[in-house]
Amino acid sequence: MKLPFSEKFLGFSMGFLVFLFAACSQNQPVSGQSDGGGKIYAEYCAGCHDGGVVGWISGAPQTGEASEWKPYFSKGLDKMTASAIKGPGNMDPKGGCDQCSEEQIRSAIEYIQEKTL
Ligand code: HEC
Repeated sequence: MKLPFSEKFLGFSMGFLVFLFAACSQNQPVSGQSDGGGKIYAEYCAGCHDGGVVGWISGAPQTGEASEWKPYFSKGLDKMTASAIKGPGNMDPKGGCDQCSEEQIRSAIEYIQEKTL
């Protein structure tokens, strides 16, 4: 399979994944952080929702692309939070953040909303 990406872009994506891995391995507690939404997003959601190869393969709506998110946000945050906790389509339940509370998932979605709409 030939991916429609330049080597430069792939290199960037790999660098980004390494960065994400480094960010994850700092082993900070998820709860009790003032900017919880952004932190959770960066650690658990950005891999798919911030573009790059994984996001492209999974088909995740991309943060910053209002047209991709509109159909979801039109349902309202309550329904989106409930759906994200169950794990829609190719997304893992809670986006893989098993220890995240409903509030934390919601604040990560609010962060996406802030960056997108
Ligand atoms: C493995 C990749 C992956 C990860 C990690 C991931 N998502 Fe998703 N997400 C998806 C995909 C794919 C969809 C589209 C699902 C569909 O509609 O079929 C989606 C959809 C969503 C939706 C819309 C759900 C709906 O039905 O209204 C929300 C909200 C969301 N993600 C939030 C998050 C949050 C918050 C995180 C981090 C805690 C996260 N995602 C992590 C892949 C991912």
